[in-house]
Amino acid sequence: MVVREKRTGAGESRRDGIPARIVLAGFRATGKSAVGGRLAVRLQYRFIDTDDELCARMKGSVTALVRRRGWPAFRKMEQALLVELAGTEGVVIATGGGAIMHQDEWRLLRKGSLVVWLRAGAATIRKRLEADAASAVQRPSLTGIDPAREIEEVLAARESLYRRGSDVVIETEHRTPEDIAAEIEQLCAPFRN
Ligand code: S3P
Repeated sequence: MVVREKRTGAGESRRDGIPARIVLAGFRATGKSAVGGRLAVRLQYRFIDTDDELCARMKGSVTALVRRRGWPAFRKMEQALLVELAGTEGVVIATGGGAIMHQDEWRLLRKGSLVVWLRAGAATIRKRLEADAASAVQRPSLTGIDPAREIEEVLAARESLYRRGSDVVIETEHRTPEDIAAEIEQLCAPFRN
């Protein structure tokens, strides 16, 4: 784990000294949902997965929405949800891999949050995506190109956004979600009174 930046704004609004929101960022299949659920239990925070929330609201999968209305419709809903979540407290939020592209809304959400970037390399992401049954319903192609190339290209394009948009980066390769959740919980300890 690498703490790259200490922001005075982080945790402006805290519950029991813990930042109001723990936001998990990162590419597809980096463990945001698995880690987020476990972390929420540890912190006794509510867990929100932005993809699940959007799917519940539109009563369908990401794949179905994108097929029917295209990526711009999904991105618009995602953008609005980030603004809404910026007003929440006591939550762990697993964001969709593309949420980082909404820079204005991300800045808003980041205020008072601890943002953790869960990182993995393209080869690992590819293996995890292939093994995850959720990929078919939650992760339609972003570009229409070959999946392996898509991972490499989109990851390369987004890495600097994840880096600049987070407070901490955790390498997830060869680690379990429980182990990572425990590390983030520890990271919150200095914020406690
Ligand atoms: C996306 C990632 C997905 C989901 C959608 C778009 C992306 O979430 O929001 O398919 O642009 O990378 P996960 O990161 O949870 O897979």
